[in-house]
Amino acid sequence: MIAESIRKWIRRELYCKECYSRLSSLLTDNPYALSILETNSRESGEHAEALRRAAEILGVKLSPEDFKPEMPEGVKPVETHNMSPVEIVYQGIKQHLKVEVVAREAYERLAEQVENLEAKEIFRNLAKAEEKHHKMLTALLQTLEQTYPQLKEKGSTGV
Ligand SMILES: [Fe+2]
Ligand SMILES: [Fe+2]
Repeated sequence: MIAESIRKWIRRELYCKECYSRLSSLLTDNPYALSILETNSRESGEHAEALRRAAEILGVKLSPEDFKPEMPEGVKPVETHNMSPVEIVYQGIKQHLKVEVVAREAYERLAEQVENLEAKEIFRNLAKAEEKHHKMLTALLQTLEQTYPQLKEKGSTGV
């Protein structure tokens, strides 16, 4: 179960890395949004690496399959048709907020489950990092709503 969870989250982190990078490329004229999305992308890659290290410590064997990006459950690709770049970023971030929460919970559970202190520390740090991601993205959503008032109207229709 621990092994499966580690494998799954490596794939999901690599998916998040790609996705945040894609979103950042849409908002290059907004330095604040760009820096947050680039940070999230870079750190998602670092998380995959931290998980790989934890797997090594715990003697969990990984195969190349485990490094194929996989979309987390609960994320549906944003329907980009007729949407402006800022709308795509806004909706994309909204989707990812849930992933940040589920990731934090998964890493907290792993930290409790493992006995190896080094691995425990890795999972604890990952859980903290996901909490930080969630805060950064929430702040970014609010800034985007203030900068582009048209977003709020669309957001309130329950998209
Ligand atoms: Fe992560
Ligand atoms: Fe994250």
